[in-house]
Amino acid sequence: TTRKLLLLPGDGIGPEAMAEVEKLIAAINEEAGAGFESERALVGGSAYDAHGAAISDADMTLAMDADAVLFGAVGGPKWDGVPYESRPEAGLLRLRKDMGLFANLRPAICYPALAEASSLKRELVDGLDILILRELTGGVYFGEPKEIIDLGNGQKRGVDTQVYETYEIERIARAAFELARTRRGKVTSMEKRNVMKTGVLWNEVVTAVHGREYPDIALDHMLADAGGMKLVQNPKQFDVIVTDNLFGDMLSDIAAMLTGSLGMLPSASLGAPDEVTGKRRALYEPVHGSAPDIAGQGLANPIAMIASFAMMLRYSFEMVAEADALEAAIAAILDAGTRTGDIMAPGCRQVGTAEMGDAIVAA
Ligand code: NAI
Ligand code: MG
Repeated sequence: TTRKLLLLPGDGIGPEAMAEVEKLIAAINEEAGAGFESERALVGGSAYDAHGAAISDADMTLAMDADAVLFGAVGGPKWDGVPYESRPEAGLLRLRKDMGLFANLRPAICYPALAEASSLKRELVDGLDILILRELTGGVYFGEPKEIIDLGNGQKRGVDTQVYETYEIERIARAAFELARTRRGKVTSMEKRNVMKTGVLWNEVVTAVHGREYPDIALDHMLADAGGMKLVQNPKQFDVIVTDNLFGDMLSDIAAMLTGSLGMLPSASLGAPDEVTGKRRALYEPVHGSAPDIAGQGLANPIAMIASFAMMLRYSFEMVAEADALEAAIAAILDAGTRTGDIMAPGCRQVGTAEMGDAIVAA
């Protein structure tokens, strides 16, 4: 088999971190005959410099045709003045939109070696492994009307509209239950049905999909504000949390901070399964940005990018053993005290981007 990957390193530390994944791809091809064929293309500011757009139509076609896309990060002060429609983020937004990526997976995993560095008490987060599933293409960020109206009496009215339709909730609910089946079999759905009609519908549809199709999974419901409290008070009670675009944005950032550095956090965004092949379009990316303050210096932590590649192995290629092995290699390297600057701790050995990548490849 051949597996077609599109690598979009982007700007700043994106290319440096991507280079470490390319080492891994070469190693997996050589040692396990994985058949990855990877191609690099431009996105963000670097694409704007080359093509005058944050992603070219030709590269967009490559993304649509790839089995999976690995994305680095985009943006930086160099492009602060470019026209709004060509700004670096526009490349990522177009990828999400054209690829139909409605399901955003944000794992919060706390490697035991880093539990000390968490903002919470060690025992609360040591061994934490939860997955927040955020609806990414609907809700209040996209609903119409969305406007500022001049009321003419010195007052204005800002309007955003939260809208969800049954099919949007059904597909994110199915994704949550499917993911839970590969994990600990538990889904917690979060909304605000006490004050929002979309919350009432969300609760109703998730409950119906569960009853019809996933009786083997444990489902519970929580109000999203209470869920935020529980996430900080006792995060290990959760397995998969499924929630809307707005609450998911916030809850996933809260969960991220349970685990330590931005340089450690991967994510995935998935589309609907193809009706013929069952395969989902997918884009994997670290949560961090382009980190202009450390770009080009070999200081970036490549683990977020490498862990995003591990998610790709797991969710796009069903290479579960390989994904487990890669995550175990990351844990082993951290246990051995190898650290980039962002996760450095007393008694550990500080290394740069390439050395961290090499250590993980070797492990
Ligand atoms: P950032 O995530 O780039 O950096 C925040 C801080 O974390 C910086 O001090 C940085 O050095 C550090 N950091 C981030 N990733 C790291 C890594 N892998 N290893 C070590 N340290 C790391 O966020 P910031 O500074 O707010 O944004 C910088 C640029 O990135 C902006 O242009 C922003 O628009 C863009 N950005 C892009 C994103 C994307 O492409 N998805 C997401 C967030 C920001
Ligand atoms: Mg956010």
